[in-house]
Amino acid sequence: MVSRVIPVDVFDLVIFGGTGDLARRKILPGLYRRFVAGQMPGDSRIIGAARADLTDEGFREQVRAAIAEFVPKARQDQAAIEGFLGRIHYVSIDATGTGGWAALKALMRENVVRAFYFSVAPSLFGDIAQRLSEYGIADAWSRIVVEKPFGRDLASAKALNAVLAKHFNETQIYRIDHYLGKETVQNLMAVRFANILFEPLWKAEYIDHVQITVAETVGVDGRGAYYDKSGAMRDMVQNHMMQLLCLIAMEPPYHFDPDAVRDEKLKVIRALKPVPKEDIVRGQYGAGKGEKGYLVHSENPASKTESYIALKVQVSNWRWQGVPFYLRTGKRLRARASEIAITFRQPPHAIFDDATGWHANVLVIRLQPNEGMDLMVMIKEPGPGGMRLMQVPLDMSFADALGAEADDVPDAYERLIMDVIRGNQTLFMRGDEVEAAWAWTDPIIQGWEARGDRPQTYDPGSSGPEDALMLMHRDGRRWREIRE
Ligand code: BG6
Repeated sequence: MVSRVIPVDVFDLVIFGGTGDLARRKILPGLYRRFVAGQMPGDSRIIGAARADLTDEGFREQVRAAIAEFVPKARQDQAAIEGFLGRIHYVSIDATGTGGWAALKALMRENVVRAFYFSVAPSLFGDIAQRLSEYGIADAWSRIVVEKPFGRDLASAKALNAVLAKHFNETQIYRIDHYLGKETVQNLMAVRFANILFEPLWKAEYIDHVQITVAETVGVDGRGAYYDKSGAMRDMVQNHMMQLLCLIAMEPPYHFDPDAVRDEKLKVIRALKPVPKEDIVRGQYGAGKGEKGYLVHSENPASKTESYIALKVQVSNWRWQGVPFYLRTGKRLRARASEIAITFRQPPHAIFDDATGWHANVLVIRLQPNEGMDLMVMIKEPGPGGMRLMQVPLDMSFADALGAEADDVPDAYERLIMDVIRGNQTLFMRGDEVEAAWAWTDPIIQGWEARGDRPQTYDPGSSGPEDALMLMHRDGRRWREIRE
């Protein structure tokens, strides 16, 4: 199967923070792959903009190094790399001053899509937005892309929205949550809304509970300064996990259209109940197995920042009445494994005497690694000896479905950047959505800050703190095992 490449218009994409980590790891290698796939039409260009005093050539060398490091060797083609580098330019810019802005304006072309990627600290969003409009670099058709963290609470998110709104309309602002660019996450919508099978069962009457796990093996490492002010709740739950929850819980939108989808997600966020302290478990990884522990990465030796969090969340509406959503995410856990598991209820009446083999149906959506879905169903154990039941997976692995082309599936950033160029905001967060997410998150964080709660220490390489097990045990349920 050959993946379809949908043509886009000719564009100039300016990356503020072009020499930064995200640009190096994700944005530039992703754009190279899109170039190879034929999605950088005509003379589309990428313009790096950062403080460093570099020439076009100097920046191209950085881009070359980023491709060498972050694009799989098999995908590195020298001729293609040279072609791609020919599209790269650089402007040295002072985000808070005047330097470089006139040069950037001179470089921009009329009649092409203009996109500006703010891969910089949020404190610079206002300065950059203001200069883009003051210097006449951005027009009413330009798009800006902003990265997380989008604020650290409701007040700061509102302030950021207000600063951007001074210079851009909501239809021009693309707030990235890279989880929405993941193949399986979008597949979740396809499975729900393009099949008749699941939707009739997609409610409290048939679903017992939902588990959402985003487990990472990496630690905080070099990001201590950022992470210590953030923690797992702000870094992962307010955005990525909230988006996953929304896609599972939302009502079918009337169309796969930006506002229709985002309206439905917003309703879910607004329906989230406040979370009592008994339904929250926070953890911080300790030392062991060659790991020095979270605290060595923090500037504060007594840091109470959580590197793990588990929550029991309730969506207060008709569809989900009484169905808990158990969320957990953490760093330095046993395996890198992210999945959503939807556990269905028991059939209302058991006709088989030997019920010992019975297990609930579970729909498992694997985000990473091994993207795909498993539907766990009951069958008869083969062979004579009566009617014994066993559970088997109906496996829908995307790698198998896509065969050799699986490697060609664009990664989250590639896909989202191309959506920006196409002007499709469906997979981006709207301002009111981000604010609603913070409005739910703030009291949870304020609660533990006011109580002075300390996270429970957990062993690196484990499944997280002991107390997290209790969160489910006391409801007569169990977490699924964290494994690749
Ligand atoms: C980022 C967080 O948004 O997502 C990181 O800031 C986290 O802390 C990362 O590691 C996880 O992304 P992925 O795509 O590797 O699951």
